[in-house]
Amino acid sequence: MNKKTVILGVTGGIAAYKSLDIVSRLRKKDINVHVIMTESATKFVAPLSFQALSQNYVVTEMFGEPKSFDIEHISLAEKADLFVIAPASANIIGKLANGIADDMLSTTVMATKAPVLLAPAMNTNMYSNPILQRNIEALKSYGYFFLDPDEGRLACGTTGKGKLADTENIVDFIDMLLYEKKDLINKKVLVTAGPTREDIDPVRYISNRSSGKMGYAIARAARNRGAEVTLISGPSNLKPPVGVNFIKIYSGSDMYNEVMKYYDSTDIVIKSAAVADYRPETIETSKIKKNNEGLNLKLVKNQDILYELGRLKKSQLLIGFAAETNNLDEYASNKLKNKNLDMLVANDVTMEKSGFDSDTNTVKIFFRNGEMVQLPNMTKEEAAYIILDYALKIKR
Ligand code: CTP
Repeated sequence: MNKKTVILGVTGGIAAYKSLDIVSRLRKKDINVHVIMTESATKFVAPLSFQALSQNYVVTEMFGEPKSFDIEHISLAEKADLFVIAPASANIIGKLANGIADDMLSTTVMATKAPVLLAPAMNTNMYSNPILQRNIEALKSYGYFFLDPDEGRLACGTTGKGKLADTENIVDFIDMLLYEKKDLINKKVLVTAGPTREDIDPVRYISNRSSGKMGYAIARAARNRGAEVTLISGPSNLKPPVGVNFIKIYSGSDMYNEVMKYYDSTDIVIKSAAVADYRPETIETSKIKKNNEGLNLKLVKNQDILYELGRLKKSQLLIGFAAETNNLDEYASNKLKNKNLDMLVANDVTMEKSGFDSDTNTVKIFFRNGEMVQLPNMTKEEAAYIILDYALKIKR
């Protein structure tokens, strides 16, 4: 992919310092960043901080000494693959919604053909003001993207909606908007991820080492490619991807119930969750006390969700995962057949830099016709795109 350029507009507000983190995160992804600050933004954060992080001159004035021979607002407007304004004040939203271009930021946005994402941040009452809301709606109707502010304690001392969206989420949204290959538009993709927990008593449970990283990466990749994504996740420390329908579950039977609600209307199902195969026969209502004997715990089988999906399959493309420690080819091929899958992604969880909680994975993909493809070790993000590429090639 060609190197992308993001123009980041920073307006005046206490959240302006958080935008430094956005620049830093984008630079780590090797994205070019040019920052335009409004005059009031420069009262909160020094332009030099943005300059140091972006490694580009920061534009602050319409009639300042130009740093190149281009007409600055036009050249920045044309350079942009994406325009982001974070934090976006009520003032800039009002100006853009009403066609006012009276400073470098508003003029450049007006001149760009790139998509524009705004992340508002302001006092709660300002945010709920109907004039601001009308302006947001007007901009949305012109195709501007918005990432809603979070609720929380605001700098002015009040609590409510108005906090700048988490910078990690802003960058996640930017990733989605910058991704060009939209080959999953109009497709509904259901992804399951993470472990499940099966309670023993009020303080203990049975679970496994799954972190959810592979499933979350697949959900993001499918979203970036234009799919309408539902992610059903067991307990995980990961941040839910922006722009997906996120459903948090606890146990295997919770996952079963949620998956079944979506199955009929789904085009592609990717079951990367590590569902517990067994659960305690009874969940004690009070804590089990120790005694001098051992403890026998009777476990009963959980429903195999994927097997059930394979049995009920109509036109869905069904993709399973297999976590193995030995005899990978044999076990994986058997799971593919027994569960009536279209594709199975297997990994040997004992391999270095692979499996649970690792940021990278080494997977082998199995198909119905007996073919298999061994992928080299790569990040789970990279693997997610390749898994989707193979899924889209399947002819039925
Ligand atoms: N799976 C499921 N429901 C279960 C168990 C597993 O949907 N109760 C799914 C997983 O999400 C995965 C696939 O089945 O996509 C394979 O899971 P895995 O744990 O590797 O295999 P199992 O079928 O449980 O068999 P075993 O534990 O004997 O390897």
